Amino acid sequence: MSNVTLTTLRRMKQESKPFACLTAYDASFARLIDEAGVEVVLVGDSLGMVVQGQESTLSVTVDEMIYHTRNVRRGTARALVMTDMPFMSYPDPQQALLNAGRLMKEGGAHMVKLEGGAMLLDTVRLLSSHGIPVCAHLGLLPQSVHKLGGYKVQGRDEAEAGAMLDDAQSLVAAGADILLLECVPQALASAITSSVDVPVIGIGAGPECDGQVLVSYDMLAITPGKRPRFSKDFLAGSGSIAAALASYVSDVKARRFPGRDHVIA
Ligand code: KIV
Repeated sequence: MSNVTLTTLRRMKQESKPFACLTAYDASFARLIDEAGVEVVLVGDSLGMVVQGQESTLSVTVDEMIYHTRNVRRGTARALVMTDMPFMSYPDPQQALLNAGRLMKEGGAHMVKLEGGAMLLDTVRLLSSHGIPVCAHLGLLPQSVHKLGGYKVQGRDEAEAGAMLDDAQSLVAAGADILLLECVPQALASAITSSVDVPVIGIGAGPECDGQVLVSYDMLAITPGKRPRFSKDFLAGSGSIAAALASYVSDVKARRFPGRDHVIA
C-alpha cells in the first residue's frame, strides 16, 4: 500500500492543492522521484521510446510493463504507482480485465491507465466493478499516433472540444478514478477539470489541471532530439538530478509550472 491513495488525490483536488506526477521505469529513478515528493509515479509506455529507443510506444508489451512496474514498485515507498496498459492490451473489456489484473498481480501496479474516450466506457465499467482503479487518458493519444497523423494538439475546434468534454464526463460516470489530458488547449483542460469531481492530471494542458505529469527523461534532458514544447529542462542549472526533481515538485505545487511558455492556447 502506498501512502498516497486515490483519497489523498481527491482531497488535494477539493483543497485546490496541485499534485505532482513523473514517469519512472526502474527502481533507482523511482526512489529519487519518490523521495522528491511526487504523489504519482507513472510507469508510462513511453518507455518504448525513451528506454527502448523505439520510434513509438506501439511495440511495448504487457510483460515489459509488468517487468518495469515491479522495478518501480521496489523503488517507491510513498507514491501511488500507475501503470500504462500498452497498445492492444485492452481491445475489449475481457482482455482489458485480464491484462489489468496481470499488471496489478504480477507487476504490483496500484492503478492502470488506458488511452481513449467513449469506446472505453464498457471497459472502464468492468475494471471498476472488479476493484481496479482506472485513469482514462484523453487528448493526444500516443498509441493512436498513426491515426492522428502525428503528435498534435487535440481539441482545438469546438466539435472536438465538446466531444472530449462529453467523453470525460461519461468516463467518470463509468467509474474512471482519474483523467489525464495530454496536449489540449488550456481553456478546454480547465473546463474539463472543473466539470468532474475526480482528479485531472495534465501534460501540455495548462496550470489549471489538478496535477501535472512529465516524462522524467524529458524534464532531465535525457531524451535525445527535440523536447515537447510543453516540457521544461529542470536539470539545467540545478546541479543534481535530486535538485531538479525537487524543483519540479515545488514548481508544480506553487503553480509556477507549467508557465506561460509551456501552455497551449
Ligand atoms: O507513457 C507516458 O509516459 C504517458 C505520459 C506522456 C503521460 O502516458
